[in-house]
Amino acid sequence: MARALVCYGSSEGQTAAVAERIGDVLDDHDHEVTLVNLKHPPDGFSPSNYDGVVVGASVHAGSHQPYVAHFVRDHREELSQLPSAFVSVSLSAAHADEAERAPAREMLEAFLDETGWAPDETLTVAGALKYSQYGLLKRFAMKRIAGKASGDTDTSRDYEYTDWEALEAFADEFAALLESSREE
Ligand SMILES: Cc1cc2nc3c(=O)[nH]c(=O)nc-3n(C[C@H](O)[C@H](O)[C@H](O)COP(=O)(O)O)c2cc1C
Repeated sequence: MARALVCYGSSEGQTAAVAERIGDVLDDHDHEVTLVNLKHPPDGFSPSNYDGVVVGASVHAGSHQPYVAHFVRDHREELSQLPSAFVSVSLSAAHADEAERAPAREMLEAFLDETGWAPDETLTVAGALKYSQYGLLKRFAMKRIAGKASGDTDTSRDYEYTDWEALEAFADEFAALLESSREE
């Protein structure tokens, strides 16, 4: 059993749900999971108290939550000593067309460049459109963006694009990485 940290930034809750699902899978592999919202980390919190770390963040206006970038930059040395993974949640990752998904990967790479972190595993994850949670301006802006992208512009409902099976397969792989690194 390894101590796994799953920490995240989430503005409308989808990355929180993604982090929880990763935590559930690691728990199924008998790892001891700690879930931390990086917006409100506990006092004295440090990744060096764990055997492996997954960091999640979502994209808004082209970049991930700055507080997640700060966390990674501040703890880069500790993160480099551990098996680690970065999961980036965005709408760009939801495109059916591969070429249209390229920005999702570019934003993930930009986060790694900006923070100087080289995790073992990375994944782009399709997020959600949560019209019910947006204020008037945000709803209007997202309706325009969605109109050009998915065409999901019915603001009386929410849309979820996350491929939970692919996410679980990724978490299974990370669980295996944790296990193998503890055997070394
Ligand atoms: C105001 C706003 C701006 C967004 N900007 C982008 C963007 O630039 N690129 C993108 O791919 N997705 C963008 N998204 C989509 C989010 O990444 C997506 O809704 C994701 O599920 C949010 O995750 P969270 O709920 O964990 O914050 C935006 C969403 C909102 C509400």
